[in-house]
Amino acid sequence: MNVCFESASVKENSADVIAVFVHRDKATFSREVQGFARRMAARISAAEIGDFKGKEGESCIVYAQRGARTRRYVLVGLGERKKLSLERYRRAAATAAKRARSLKAKTLAIYVPGIARPFGQTVHALTEGALLSLYKFDKYVSKNDDDPAKVESISIVTEGRAKLIEGKTAVDKARIVSESTALARDLGNAPGNEIFPQTLAEAARQSAERSGYRATILDEQEISDLAMGGVLGVSRGSAHPPRFIILEYGPKSKRPIVLVGKGVTFDSGGISIKPSAGMAEMKMDMSGAAAVIGTFEAVARLKLPVHIVGLIPAVENLPSGNAIRPGDILRHYNGKTSEVDNTDAEGRLILADALGYAGTFKPQAVIDLATLTGAVVVALGHYATGMMGNDSALMEKLKIAGEATYERVWQLPLFDEYENQIRSDIADVKNTGGRWAGCITGGLFLRKFIGNYKWVHLDIAGTAILEENGDYTFKGASGVGVRLLTELLTRWK
Ligand code: BES
Ligand code: MN
Ligand code: ZN
Repeated sequence: MNVCFESASVKENSADVIAVFVHRDKATFSREVQGFARRMAARISAAEIGDFKGKEGESCIVYAQRGARTRRYVLVGLGERKKLSLERYRRAAATAAKRARSLKAKTLAIYVPGIARPFGQTVHALTEGALLSLYKFDKYVSKNDDDPAKVESISIVTEGRAKLIEGKTAVDKARIVSESTALARDLGNAPGNEIFPQTLAEAARQSAERSGYRATILDEQEISDLAMGGVLGVSRGSAHPPRFIILEYGPKSKRPIVLVGKGVTFDSGGISIKPSAGMAEMKMDMSGAAAVIGTFEAVARLKLPVHIVGLIPAVENLPSGNAIRPGDILRHYNGKTSEVDNTDAEGRLILADALGYAGTFKPQAVIDLATLTGAVVVALGHYATGMMGNDSALMEKLKIAGEATYERVWQLPLFDEYENQIRSDIADVKNTGGRWAGCITGGLFLRKFIGNYKWVHLDIAGTAILEENGDYTFKGASGVGVRLLTELLTRWK
């Protein structure tokens, strides 16, 4: 997909479809529609406008008079002016892009509303909404000749020339984060027979080569040499050996921010096997890893002035004669032991090793992302990531980045009282905490393995794996985390 920023009058524009935004407020609405018509030297009849009122989510196609450069315009509603937000722009651009695709347009021009403030962020949001909404995971679907044409290029357009540089910069940034989000979506949506520890590591290596960061892949022997008992244990039931992926970007002179991603390429539950209904979703249990790889791709391509390290324990959780069993005890990287009460609570077992290892980098902060618990989906559904941690300033930063990107996070408490639930009589900790506060006991298990550093745990089980389509998100892997972390690192001081 081509995407650019340019300055051109609506009248001169020859895109197959031109999208223009209007607001719902009565006076503004008619002024905007008339203004649009005037710029087009066209007349728009009441019949054409029909019931379109400029509400958010609404759109209306207007056909141009003879002689115009472009045949079709799509008016897209932004809703009321006082409720405007960057998210509204994302969604409105998504509506425009999807309408353009269904009209078989190859080129689409999206006009930035004159009142848009701040300009750069609006352009960014429009670009992101349009690009993310055209994402499809269709590489395994055979192509037909009568398949709808694809939108090949999008231009974000302003009529003035004053903000050309600001607009171009915003479009370039938005293109990079959207493409990196698409990479995370592709990794998540790829089936377990395509993405397993070795191929996930290979995907990370290729991303590193493409985008200009470093990747080191540890094999099973090296993982064993580091005594990462969690990674070794969980992967034992699978024919695919584990990998431990280490990514690094930026100058070593600065203490790094370490990003840890759960990389369970398929989670059957192991001996504590999951019910078959819905098990296929567990190909996306490496969404934390995908978010970390996507973030590295974005940060490296944006050349952000930060030092980051990425750690991805990659395993497949399957039952077999070699698999770990309930009751087994594992020893982790930092020497602490865990009692495996349930082999389906495997994410925390591999993250325990990675969080211990993170300490060796003397990090400024450590953020882990994991599709860790079904409980977070019960608590927060699909619209908020569960956040826990030991540093309120870092959590505040994530909240701000979450609002800006709309990848919102919501804090849950790590009260010490809950620790009773994961107490073990025979090991340092038990990997299950019973029925209540399952998301929190997951976080508390991880806290046992962190070093002396600032840490935040993001449970993305609900936000990474979606059951329904949204305006610019789809059933399946959302790629959540890439935009959130890239925003956080863009603002990092
Ligand atoms: N990967 C799952 C969590 C999950 C569930 C992610 C649903 C996305 C959607 C995780 O490994 C798991 O199985 N967790 C168990 C933990 C329990 C056994 C303590 C769970 O949530 O049931
Ligand atoms: Mn599991
Ligand atoms: Zn899992």
